[in-house]
Amino acid sequence: GLKARQVERLFRELLSPELQQILKDCGAVGEALDMPVYAVGGFVRDLLLRQENLDVDLVVEGNGIAFAEEFARRHPCRVRSHHKFGTAILIFPDGGKIDIASARMEYYLEPGALPTVEHSSIKLDLYRRDFTINTLAIALNGKRHGELLDFFGGQRDLREKVLRVLHNLSFVEDPTRVFRAIRFEQRLGFHLGAHTESLLKSAIQMGFMSRVSGARLFNELTIIFKEANPLPAVFRLAELGLLPCIHSALTLGERKRRLFEAASQAVLWYEFQHPKKVLQRWEVYFLCLISDLDYRAVPTIARRLDVPARFRELLRAQRGQAHRVIRQLARRLGRDQEPRPSELHRMLSGFSDEVLLYILARLSDERARQWVAHYITHLRHTSIHLDGHALKEMGFPPGPLYKKILSLLLAERLDGRIHSLEDEIALVQRRFGRPGAR
Ligand code: CTP
Repeated sequence: GLKARQVERLFRELLSPELQQILKDCGAVGEALDMPVYAVGGFVRDLLLRQENLDVDLVVEGNGIAFAEEFARRHPCRVRSHHKFGTAILIFPDGGKIDIASARMEYYLEPGALPTVEHSSIKLDLYRRDFTINTLAIALNGKRHGELLDFFGGQRDLREKVLRVLHNLSFVEDPTRVFRAIRFEQRLGFHLGAHTESLLKSAIQMGFMSRVSGARLFNELTIIFKEANPLPAVFRLAELGLLPCIHSALTLGERKRRLFEAASQAVLWYEFQHPKKVLQRWEVYFLCLISDLDYRAVPTIARRLDVPARFRELLRAQRGQAHRVIRQLARRLGRDQEPRPSELHRMLSGFSDEVLLYILARLSDERARQWVAHYITHLRHTSIHLDGHALKEMGFPPGPLYKKILSLLLAERLDGRIHSLEDEIALVQRRFGRPGAR
């Protein structure tokens, strides 16, 4: 196993100097309060895999909230505590966060029983976790800083690239771990241990997934959709028969696989074009997942998954509209009739970027895709010079006429029939008269 010296070298290689200092300071606070503190879980896993992971989780043997408060007395950061769970979050001025949990102490408190194993409290905490690769911990306190705790063979499984549960009831106790298994398997390029795989499959077969609440299912699904490349995990979900657990009509045939691939291309293209925009990629993939469902099935699935209100509204208002536009564009292609820029603008301007990418992915014809791409990169940024104020100064009384004038101007501008402010003024005067002269 790794020695403390080697772990500290990984700290130096992979963590920012600020984070290294924070971990040292956590150790110092732990020393001062006589509470052992450990970095645990995904943070340690990814450190050993030499992958970046900015989510630091700490477990304190003792009162985690008292620990967090003492840390915040010594450092510029805020504390948010959850007394019910004995957890706290440190929030740093740069927005960074550290989660702190308290390891349960029952072990020590059992009457008459002395702790037989050193660190039994952290060990019990780690034993409750999903996979061995997530059970590694690094001690932070003083002399122990960098000491790696590996009670369940996590280092071996990291080396062998295998996911193993800690006990036979793991998936039964928490069926969402099935989704986590698939996510880790595909993200890290690991495989399931033979026994773990059969436990996972029987948890699915025995119907344990139906016990998972909609909100948790939705959460797991969107976490998968947020992965850098979610496709392998989505395909694996289908292969393991998990999609019908979400809704009986959900399938993943060859057509939908190709749709997911097209969506992933569209997302990459968009993110390259708009490096600063935050795209809700998961929405694009969610639309792909339900692309073939009848509109009547959509509310059922939204209810089953407890979809957040905002997204439910998008499904209600934009999905059907998107399908209509896809059919319109296909008809235009059939008639070999290229839509004018103003027509494209009218068809597409009501959609969120996520829905536009879904539309893009759904179009199999290269030409139709170019129309939509042209709208996204150019047409929608088209603007005109005149606005409501200008119309008022020109003497038009405010009212619904404004919208009519301005959309006419935009359409003419999009179609290249006018170019300058002068063109706009001339057009308004020609079509709507000189109100001052009336
Ligand atoms: N965990 C678990 N069972 C779950 C969810 C979480 O046992 N259903 C444990 C895992 O051991 C995990 C830890 O809680 O390491 C923290 O969970 P989370 O932050 O979701 O996981 P990470 O391992 O950090 O995964 P990611 O890299 O995807 O954030």
